Amino acid sequence: MAPEPEDEMNDKNPKPLDEDDIALLKTYGLGPYSASIKKVEKEIKDMAKKVNDLCGIKESDTGLAAPSQWDLVSDKQMMQEEQPLQVARCTKIINPNTEDAKYVINVKQIAKFVVGLGDRVSPTDIEEGMRVGVDRNKYQIQIPLPPKIDPSVTMMTVEEKPDVTYNDVGGCKEQIEKMREVVELPMLHPEKFVKLGIDPPKGVLCYGPPGTGKTLLARAVANRTDACFIRVIGSELVQKYVGEGARMVRELFQMARSKKACIVFFDEVDAIGGARFDDGVGGDNEVQRTMLEIVNQLDGFDARGNIKVLMATNRPDTLDPALLRPGRLDRKVEFGLPDLESRTQIFKIHTRTMNCERDIRFELLARLCPNSTGADIRSVCTEAGMFAIRARRKTVTEKDFLDAVNKVIKGYQKFSATPKYMVYN
Ligand SMILES: Nc1ncnc2c1ncn2[C@@H]1O[C@H](COP(=O)(O)OP(=O)(O)O)[C@@H](O)[C@H]1O
Ligand SMILES: [Mg+2]
Repeated sequence: MAPEPEDEMNDKNPKPLDEDDIALLKTYGLGPYSASIKKVEKEIKDMAKKVNDLCGIKESDTGLAAPSQWDLVSDKQMMQEEQPLQVARCTKIINPNTEDAKYVINVKQIAKFVVGLGDRVSPTDIEEGMRVGVDRNKYQIQIPLPPKIDPSVTMMTVEEKPDVTYNDVGGCKEQIEKMREVVELPMLHPEKFVKLGIDPPKGVLCYGPPGTGKTLLARAVANRTDACFIRVIGSELVQKYVGEGARMVRELFQMARSKKACIVFFDEVDAIGGARFDDGVGGDNEVQRTMLEIVNQLDGFDARGNIKVLMATNRPDTLDPALLRPGRLDRKVEFGLPDLESRTQIFKIHTRTMNCERDIRFELLARLCPNSTGADIRSVCTEAGMFAIRARRKTVTEKDFLDAVNKVIKGYQKFSATPKYMVYN
């Protein structure tokens, strides 16, 4: 009788397994070499990955199917059967929204035709004034085409987001704030403006001495928003033939309007935005006409719409007043010289990736560069790195920075554009 309860106890609380038991359990079902096989397999995998990395991009990364699946013969046949289409313009739709709608198309230098639709287009796809592709026999409309836009204008779209973020801009707190207010707020919360019944500003003019981060901030904005970003350098719009520049501006805004949201950034706008003057010959200036087209386009789009215009210049005094009047570019953001705190921050930003000694007194360095711009400070950092390289050191010391400050700030005083800028304004 006595051992019974003890037996029950044993059954209910079996002795916990110790580590040896668990190790033994783990070997169940494993062959004698499985551990080493696993290890070798992993090594092979790692090696294959390493080889792939070294080889770089391969054909299989281009999105094509594997060559074994290519069907060149039928591809060739299809190419032969398919005729190239002709570009035409649909000028008018007769009896729209009915069964027997007909389309008047204008094929350049041939004639006008009244045609129907091909099998693969739906009537809702075609609108009046659209470019369409038509076949060469019956001139039926086969495909709607996007509006024709100058390839050089299309090229200006910045597809890849620049890797500059707001964190890479030292100081400029106020400017960033103003910029975000104008660019991000209307795009993200348009209803706020509708409720208040005001129109958000259409654009911003950034001005200030060279090297204070105007272009940098615009790039940060581009990185931040999901909007399409179009960057135009003012001088790109100065063209050889009369009317070309204006046409480019028109097509630029046409392209911008076709996007869901779009930011157009005119850098160095003084190249085209100069004040109008009479050149005494009687002919008017092509550059001025380009500028007038910009003014015209600025008036043309809805302030609550999807386009925002940024402009940057370092000669605001030369700009035409028409460009700057309220309702066109309402916001003007001045980029001044950075103050002590901002300079310290800029130093820290530019030394972030550098291999520096540990406790460098950036504040002291910032104090030593009065009246210098962000670009100057960046140049100081580069120069300090050069000193370290020259001395064959792997880290940059504070002394390098001090030498660099001496060299750059003293040496650049002759070239600095800042005093001149101060005189203009
Ligand atoms: N506030 C700043 N913070 C960090 N770097 C700056 C700043 N301002 C200028 N820089 C540096 O100077 C360089 C030139 O500035 P940029 O924006 O092109 O000048 P600009 O105002 O003439 O367009 C930038 O690439 C950046 O490295
Ligand atoms: Mg610039």
